[in-house]
Amino acid sequence: IEVAEFDLVVFGASGDLAHRKLIPALYHRCADGQVPEGARIICSARRDYSDDDYRQWAREALQEHVSDLEDESLEHFLSRLHYVKIDVGGTDGWSDLKTILDERPDVVRAFYLAVGPDLFGTICQGIGNAGLVTDKTRVVIEKPIGKDGASAKALNDTVGAVFKEEQIFRIDHYLGKETVQNLMALRFANALFEPLWNAAHIDHVQITVAESLGVGGRAGYYDTAGALRDMVQNHILQLLCLVAMEPPESMNADSVRDEKLKVLKALSPITEANADKLTVRGQYRAGASAGGAVPGYLEELGRDDSTTETFVALKAEIANWRWAGVPFYLRTGKRLAQRVSEIAVQFRPIPHSIFDAEAGHISANRLVIRLQPDEGVQMKVMIKDPGPGGMRLREVPLDMSFAEAFKIRNPDAYERLIMDVIRGNQTLFMRRDEVDAAWAWIDPILDAWKASKDTPRSYTAGTWGPSASIALVERDGRTWAEDG
Ligand code: BG6
Repeated sequence: IEVAEFDLVVFGASGDLAHRKLIPALYHRCADGQVPEGARIICSARRDYSDDDYRQWAREALQEHVSDLEDESLEHFLSRLHYVKIDVGGTDGWSDLKTILDERPDVVRAFYLAVGPDLFGTICQGIGNAGLVTDKTRVVIEKPIGKDGASAKALNDTVGAVFKEEQIFRIDHYLGKETVQNLMALRFANALFEPLWNAAHIDHVQITVAESLGVGGRAGYYDTAGALRDMVQNHILQLLCLVAMEPPESMNADSVRDEKLKVLKALSPITEANADKLTVRGQYRAGASAGGAVPGYLEELGRDDSTTETFVALKAEIANWRWAGVPFYLRTGKRLAQRVSEIAVQFRPIPHSIFDAEAGHISANRLVIRLQPDEGVQMKVMIKDPGPGGMRLREVPLDMSFAEAFKIRNPDAYERLIMDVIRGNQTLFMRRDEVDAAWAWIDPILDAWKASKDTPRSYTAGTWGPSASIALVERDGRTWAEDG
């Protein structure tokens, strides 16, 4: 889809996010011809770079993170980058930026804040004070949006003092993942699922976001967050919303976000009274991963007194007509056995079997939406085992692997999301009330953990987390879908 000309300003342009994600995403969009010739990418940071210095930095970022770099596209892309040095806390640089932007006051103007949240306020105020906000201006911010409801409110107030809600794009990069958007296609572009998509036919839902890496160099940030804030408050709750929401009236941003908000509000509270039954926290100790021996979390952190969780499993329930009594088991963690993110929708067993014992066990149907790696959708169904040997049943996957079906590069989430910002489409971005509602569910869990005498259970790196997480589902007569 064509986009209009724009000026994109990236703050924090020499940082980690720009290096790993933004510059590569912009390169791909340019190489695919989606960035109009008149568009300007203005990169800003505190370093004393010239345009050429920054282009060199970007070249290295691309060489590291893009496997199919093409020389011609690379040179063309680099020539489109401009650098402006701004000391965001001071006055230096803002007027230079203003001079550049004022050349074209009528084009879409997007400010991407690829910086830590402690700078969001300063930069927004700087943008406001420099008079850079036009009707066509947008601002993009990333998680963490607060560390609890109160701090999220303060942060949203600060950003909201300069920008209107329609101008604020809060990124949850999970919403930009191809398979996550496919969840909406699957549910709402097929007649097959919707009649079955409720408590009468679905036994439970599992959402797993397992990572095999540890916290590595991010231990400093991570220790102030933990798995619940880092992954559940945002990514996993967003996935849960897309699975559980009512059909929105349209794909219009507010229709979709209204429905997601209702799900968040319907989550049954987890508090001190039930947290020990419904939540499991873990922290990895030294163990092994595919590459060999790996250190434990405390060693990586360089302290031995942290009780930050690197794993969490939860049993959530949505108290509404569609989902009453259907558990949503959620889990995520670092240094688990495998990197795999998937949503498994487990249907109820058949009401009555007409087959005799020799036919074997009849497994209930399961729909698995694999987000990464090996993106795809799988439906587990029963068939007759081929051959003349009588009626023996077997479970097989009806498989839809995206890599095989579409032989195209799977675009990174940021590619989609940045272009949506330019297009002004907020469907895949979190509205302020969603962030608040997610925290309203998370805060009591954090409080309950704080009040509890328990600390996270230790698990060996390279396993599926503490055994209590397995017990959490086994107590209900169920098992995790992917336990190796
Ligand atoms: C980030 C978290 O939001 O998501 C990280 O802060 C996590 O801790 C990452 O590793 C996972 O993203 P992805 O796209 O690699 O699954």
